[in-house]
Amino acid sequence: MVNGGTLAHRLEARSAKVAVIGQGYVGVPIALRASSVGFPVVGYDTATERIQALRRGNSYIEDVVSEELGAALAAGYLPTTEKADLEGFDVAVITVPTPLRDGAPDLTFIERAAVTLAEHLEPGALVVLESTTYPGTTEELLRPILESSGLTAGVDFFLGYSPERIDPGNPQWSFENTPKVVAGIDAASLVVVEQFYGALVDKVVPVSSLAEAELVKLLENTFRHVNIALVNELAMFARDLGVDIWNAIDAAATKPFGYMRFIPGPGVGGHCLPIDPSYLAWRVERVLGHRFRFVELANDVNRGMPDYVVRRAQALLNKHGKAVNRARILLLGLAYKPGTSDWRESPAMRITELLVRLGANVRAHDAHVPAGQLLGPAVPRVDCTADEIDAADLVILLTDHPELPYDEIAARASLVLDTRGRLRNHAFDGELL
Ligand SMILES: NC(=O)c1ccc[n+]([C@@H]2O[C@H](COP(=O)([O-])OP(=O)(O)OC[C@H]3O[C@@H](n4cnc5c(N)ncnc54)[C@H](O)[C@@H]3O)[C@@H](O)[C@H]2O)c1
Repeated sequence: MVNGGTLAHRLEARSAKVAVIGQGYVGVPIALRASSVGFPVVGYDTATERIQALRRGNSYIEDVVSEELGAALAAGYLPTTEKADLEGFDVAVITVPTPLRDGAPDLTFIERAAVTLAEHLEPGALVVLESTTYPGTTEELLRPILESSGLTAGVDFFLGYSPERIDPGNPQWSFENTPKVVAGIDAASLVVVEQFYGALVDKVVPVSSLAEAELVKLLENTFRHVNIALVNELAMFARDLGVDIWNAIDAAATKPFGYMRFIPGPGVGGHCLPIDPSYLAWRVERVLGHRFRFVELANDVNRGMPDYVVRRAQALLNKHGKAVNRARILLLGLAYKPGTSDWRESPAMRITELLVRLGANVRAHDAHVPAGQLLGPAVPRVDCTADEIDAADLVILLTDHPELPYDEIAARASLVLDTRGRLRNHAFDGELL
């Protein structure tokens, strides 16, 4: 068993050197939080532009305000692309991407991060994986790479897993006040993992194994994915049955127990729901030979939503004597969720592509997503002005960003397709999803 005395002491004294591998949506908030509670922090990333921006004090993550970043930089937070800066780390937290490649988990980012850490691993240090992945990854993939250093997990160094629950754009639940699930490869590792995260968040929830902690994240996201698919499919049926799904959902949500409110939308996006459940399904199939049918069905329904939105847009225009071809369509919101700039896997991309293919004159507005990153020259980025709203044959509300002028949209637009139910309490010409 590793002697945790020295690390425990350094954690207590806030002198433990913390290295966060991956400075993205997950890594930056952790690095800044660790810095704000007094740890010396190195934020290592292979993306030079990201690191340069952080060094200049420019936050590209909306939840991280530049003052917070400035305070961390002043306190010694070091964003870096230099592996040498990892030398002598006491705690390393891995927050690199875990995408899908051809429908299968792509763990190459974790592998590369682990190789880098193995070069600098010293006895008594702690390594924690935070990237979302299938149960077994920390033990079967990360551990052997770290042990290529010649050190043994549980004997020479501590090893843990803690799923990230960060919810970008959520004003109520932050990194700090969201309970953090933690696990260690053995009892001694769990103690130091708990101690480290106990310094960063209000509440730590220990679980009994690494695989259990890995499953927690996939359970949470599969639960969301499946329930969103449920209301999406129901929204399509309810409409055809002539029932208002939005009113039904609100009424169901008055039940104080046994029901949780999910609402329909144009599809799922981001780095979690379109990907994480497939990690679990892949593992179940690979190890057990079973198909995870709930995940397959949810994927099927949610991936079909952008096409459904376009069919509804087509039908709505048709009802008013217009064709999609040459119609001027204003898309409001490109990010996958309100209040954020994250457009990864956003259903808006597929919707735009389909509308353009049908000959629509598509214009798009999103004050959060930086222009020039997506859509291509066929789709100009515009402001959501009165002129733009007036000139559109159809306005499609895809992301209900808080700052959009909803009263004006409802009052001026000749037709609206509201995929988020945001205009429910407005009088407007058009339809809810
Ligand atoms: N974004 C979220 O809301 C969220 C929430 C919970 C969990 N997660 C999970 O957290 C993990 C990270 O997600 P993210 O959204 O922060 O991704 P991200 O793409 O924003 O950031 C990851 C960063 O890791 C860097 N990177 C890649 N390989 C590296 C390497 N070998 N060494 C150092 N840096 C490297 C990339 O350049 C990038 O800046 C994923 O597994 C994701 O599923 C994300």
